[in-house]
Amino acid sequence: VILYIIFLCRVVLCIFGCCFMVRHAQTAAAPAPQPRIKKFQVYRWDPDTAGDKPRMQTYDIDLNTCGPMVLDALIKIKNEIDPTLTFRRSCREGICGSCAMNINGGNTLACLNKIDTNISKATKIYPLPHMYVVKDLVPDMSNFYAQYKSIEPYLKKKDNNQEGKEQYFQSVEDRQKLDGLYECILCACCSTSCPSYWWNGDKYLGPAVLMQAYRWMIDSRDEFTEERLSKLQDPFSLYRCHTIMNCTKTCPKGLNPGKAIAEIKKMMATYKEKKAAAS
Ligand SMILES: *[C@@H]1O[C@H](CO)[C@@H](O)[C@H](O)[C@H]1NC(C)=O
Ligand SMILES: *[C@@H]1O[C@H](CO)[C@@H](O)[C@H](O)[C@H]1NC(C)=O
Ligand code: SF4
Ligand code: SF4
Ligand code: FES
Repeated sequence: VILYIIFLCRVVLCIFGCCFMVRHAQTAAAPAPQPRIKKFQVYRWDPDTAGDKPRMQTYDIDLNTCGPMVLDALIKIKNEIDPTLTFRRSCREGICGSCAMNINGGNTLACLNKIDTNISKATKIYPLPHMYVVKDLVPDMSNFYAQYKSIEPYLKKKDNNQEGKEQYFQSVEDRQKLDGLYECILCACCSTSCPSYWWNGDKYLGPAVLMQAYRWMIDSRDEFTEERLSKLQDPFSLYRCHTIMNCTKTCPKGLNPGKAIAEIKKMMATYKEKKAAAS
């Protein structure tokens, strides 16, 4: 019995000793890293608070304890420093489009934008430019969504009798025409980088919405191409685009709304010729 107790004691001691050694080795191998304090200057404004004026607020974040993306820094600020900071986000992987904002002068998605690790430079964050601000980094998207609704972004058929009976087939080639268009997540980065949209956002539809208008015009299953073109004939909806190409430069999904608009203009020219010939 005594031998057995001694054996048990040695086993316990041994386990204890091992643990101690492992822990000791760990602390020795990883000396506390130097903090890497980065400044984030963030636009703050609450229009609902009487007398509140837009201002920049600076937050210090240690990059050693922060994820790699600008959205990680914003979430860290909100969780650990200032719960009143307001911004939109959901998927954190560039799919929902809700974290669109202006970071260091360019419109992009905070979740796809890597923090510049140069700590001698502050990162400046504003809401999407020339939009009404709901609070801080949250823009009012009502006009943008109303414009999207206005282009009827869904399949339309002349004869609805077949609806729900069987699939509307599409060839592989026709389906491929939608590549580079259907991937748009409607983040509005492009539209809010477009000077024409800044000055005429009430009447000019902007690159994001026009690219979706084009997406439905060229869908082989849709039968309302001419009606869709006809709705864009006025001097503003489409023709305020002057091919400045800010939109394509800024798209965080690598899409080319400027090209889609140029294609609509070509289709429009053909459509107008055809209409003139018929009358
Ligand atoms: C970091 O930013 C500072 C200030 O803009 C600049 O002078 C410096 O060259 C940058 N360092 C690196 C490594 O890019
Ligand atoms: C877009 O273009 C204008 C003028 O060409 C420029 O001043 C502006 O900074 C650009 N905006 C964005 C967000 O890219
Ligand atoms: S085209 Fe690009 S920038 Fe414009 S709304 Fe779509 S995903 Fe966003
Ligand atoms: S190409 Fe047209 S839509 Fe794109 S930024 Fe220029 S004016 Fe705006
Ligand atoms: S959080 Fe969804 S796109 Fe950035």
